[in-house]
Amino acid sequence: MNYTPSAERYNKMLYNRCGRSGILLPAISLGLWHNFGSVDDFETARSIIRRAFDRGITHFDLANNYGPAPGTAEENFGNILKKDFTGNLRDEMVISTKAGYHMWAGPYGEWGSRKYLLSSLDQSLKRMQLDYVDIFYSHRPDPDTPLEETMMALDIAVRSGRALYAGISNYKAPEAKEAIKILKQLGTPCLIHQPKYSMFERWVEGGLLDVLEEYGVGCIPFSPLAQGLLTDRYLKGIPEGSRASKAHGFLKTADITEDRLQQIKQLNDIAKKRNQSLAQMALVWLLKDKRITSVLIGASSVQQLDNNIDCLDNVSLSNDELNKIESILRKNP
Ligand SMILES: NC(=O)c1ccc[n+]([C@@H]2O[C@H](COP(=O)([O-])OP(=O)(O)OC[C@H]3O[C@@H](n4cnc5c(N)ncnc54)[C@H](OP(=O)(O)O)[C@@H]3O)[C@@H](O)[C@H]2O)c1
Repeated sequence: MNYTPSAERYNKMLYNRCGRSGILLPAISLGLWHNFGSVDDFETARSIIRRAFDRGITHFDLANNYGPAPGTAEENFGNILKKDFTGNLRDEMVISTKAGYHMWAGPYGEWGSRKYLLSSLDQSLKRMQLDYVDIFYSHRPDPDTPLEETMMALDIAVRSGRALYAGISNYKAPEAKEAIKILKQLGTPCLIHQPKYSMFERWVEGGLLDVLEEYGVGCIPFSPLAQGLLTDRYLKGIPEGSRASKAHGFLKTADITEDRLQQIKQLNDIAKKRNQSLAQMALVWLLKDKRITSVLIGASSVQQLDNNIDCLDNVSLSNDELNKIESILRKNP
């Protein structure tokens, strides 16, 4: 099946400036953490990537360890690029990868040393069959490596042409501020921060978003649907094939408590009154804050992807809706 991207692909997607940089990112970006590994169906993965691009998603987020097996999401993505995104289409895409979590045996296969970050990036480029990535992230802060060393590795990744921009992920406000300052001194500004942020996970509101705004760094929340909890996926039990049903899935059945379900049902009722799915409402709830550049979703089907992108048809939330949502969220299970 030859692929020709839709001629309409840039007609509807919103693009937001990433901090105070030259880069615009789509309001919805697609992550390949789950559903794109060697355990998953390659043709489904391929159709999700094609559909995403057809609907204006230009940003695809990976990491060295995505799979399972670790590395296979990058391999599959590289094969999809090779088959479908030929010619100059690479220039229409922003591809990111990361290093920080465990990837290979021995003392150089995780955390934040220059040795690990740069060799991991070289491995990622090989797996994706790319000359460069657009964004290279330190996936998590390393308490035992000087922040200067980790940031110098990002700087070198950019200076050597392996990456165009540097990013950080999972850094709390004070360490993010430090990292951003060091990168600035090195001459490679921090483009973006990738934190976990959703209606159910709000630590970023306690200082990180202010730091990012002050320093002109973009913000791309991951797991904006709380891995599927903030959707209708679990309203009637745990469906076969869902993330919570999979042994390798990071969402555990223990996360789906009765109290949590009650909360999800109440949020779902508000979404219904807006003629939206809960997933759509959860995404626009994040995008209402202008400091949010893009929301980084996952999807296991083209239908889910379409449903999520369609949130852009109704992005406004009334004060009344916001208050009702807030009162439900305050009842923290
Ligand atoms: N930097 C980091 O440390 C870090 C950590 C985690 C993730 N990430 C990035 O963030 C990306 C997204 O994370 P995530 O996959 O956890 O995001 P998410 O959007 O919160 O969850 C995605 C899951 O929700 C379900 N879903 C999505 N849309 C749906 C819809 N419209 N209706 C019903 N169910 C729907 C699907 O579950 P089913 O599979 O059950 O269908 C899907 O796999 C990752 O791919 C990765 O790129 C980064």
